[in-house]
Amino acid sequence: MDVRTCEINLNHWYVVAQSTEVTRQPIEVQLWHHSIVLYRDSKGKIHGLNNRCPHRQVKLSEGKVIENSLECAYHGWQFNGEGICTFIPYLNPTVNGGVLKNQALPKCKIDSYPVKEWDGFIWVFLGDKQVLISQQVKPMSISEWEHLNYIGTVSVIDCQAHFSFLIENLMDMYHGHLHNDYQAWTEAKLKELTTNEKEVKGVYEAKSYYKIDKIWSIYQLFFPRFRVLHSQPLTVSYCYPHWRSTLGEYFTIYCLFCPINLTHTKAYLIHFTSLNAFHRLHQLPRWFRQFIKDQLWGTAQTMLDGLVKQDIRMIEQEQQAYAQQFNHPTYEINPTIAAVQTMIKKQVKKEQLK
Ligand code: FES
Ligand SMILES: [Fe+2]
Repeated sequence: MDVRTCEINLNHWYVVAQSTEVTRQPIEVQLWHHSIVLYRDSKGKIHGLNNRCPHRQVKLSEGKVIENSLECAYHGWQFNGEGICTFIPYLNPTVNGGVLKNQALPKCKIDSYPVKEWDGFIWVFLGDKQVLISQQVKPMSISEWEHLNYIGTVSVIDCQAHFSFLIENLMDMYHGHLHNDYQAWTEAKLKELTTNEKEVKGVYEAKSYYKIDKIWSIYQLFFPRFRVLHSQPLTVSYCYPHWRSTLGEYFTIYCLFCPINLTHTKAYLIHFTSLNAFHRLHQLPRWFRQFIKDQLWGTAQTMLDGLVKQDIRMIEQEQQAYAQQFNHPTYEINPTIAAVQTMIKKQVKKEQLK
């Protein structure tokens, strides 16, 4: 099995959008060869349907939401959140008190997908619904999202490459070499590698440029002269299909995957700076702490976008080289890469066995 042509295990929750992107206006998102339309009903609940009108196959995301139903732009057929056709404006209308009733509607039903709004993101489950229930599959928890002690920044990764190239990049901390201008760490050395059914975990010893232990040290994010190199453990975990990393006590980063097809991967990189060290701050009123969190949100944007841009450039070159010469040998000395590839293959087999 070639890891670069591996499918994904669909029996997991994948991220398709940020919460703020989904409104009463339907939007199209993509996940592993599926085009999905997302919309909020009148109660704010999010629904996810196959983005094809059963009438003429046009995209339902071009339509609009009428109360709790999605109305197709072309002929105005309406569908509820389960994908059942509930109204056709020009079919056998029986006017009953001004309301159209008893229409002989076609028995078409659009596929609907389990959708969750969880820690700032919209998660979709495309797999076997029996597995979802019997194994109580949950999205990855991002507890820092709401916690008042963490300042977040989100950067969107959109790269023309198989998802394996992205996760290998995230697990291989020796590539700090690439990030001269935005580097958070240096001199990484892999100390420990463990793997189990669900996770590959690498622990590196590294030198970090940032130490967020004084209130003013937040300025290290803007001004390099405030930075002092010091040793910190750097952990990276592939909690299939997503990724989590910590650098000392001060930073946590997540990468939430949205693989679109074999050569296109989207993902959300979320960087959290911890304010845990500022005990006095924790004694202030909640509203003020929330105000600080909101004001500092996105502080690491320039750094994170810069890192992402440099990584995408490398990842896309790897994909292009693979497309040109897929059996050309590559030489790898970091054991985390082999562990990641084994995990990807195992997960595909696991889904096939279901
Ligand atoms: S194509 Fe959707 S209503 Fe006709
Ligand atoms: Fe990187």
